[in-house]
Amino acid sequence: MVHYPAWDQDEARSIVSGLAHLEGATLPILHALQEEFGYVDPQAVPLIAEALNLSRADVHGAISFYHDFRPAPPPRRIVKLCRAEACQALGCEMVVEDLAREHGIVVDGHGHGGSHDAVVETVYCLGNCALGPSALVEGELIGRVDADRVAALCGARQ
Ligand code: FES
Repeated sequence: MVHYPAWDQDEARSIVSGLAHLEGATLPILHALQEEFGYVDPQAVPLIAEALNLSRADVHGAISFYHDFRPAPPPRRIVKLCRAEACQALGCEMVVEDLAREHGIVVDGHGHGGSHDAVVETVYCLGNCALGPSALVEGELIGRVDADRVAALCGARQ
């Protein structure tokens, strides 16, 4: 998974001014910012508005119109937890409940404990039904997970 640098307003400013001469520069600028930082911080709005002589509302509108642009840093890691039938029979819903109760991690809730380090998302069948509940993290299939294991996967660093 890509690790992005923290938002840097000076760096953002130089990206904006480097592309401001382009025809229809808003989208190339937004793409360049997201490529650099992984998201488009709200602080970019006045920078772009000023450089392109647009209103802040115009810039904000462009960011929210294109769903590709993230307004907040992406999670460092995504853990997919299977909640299809076979994994349900093996207790995946208990894992979901325990994650919320014991670890404050809300499945499909985006963000846990106020950080953006990891999210847990529901998937339906990872083809590992006999060894459920199953999880997938960064391409690795993991069987017989419990809430502690999923929480550890969320917290693990590369
Ligand atoms: S139902 Fe969960 S891996 Fe198939």
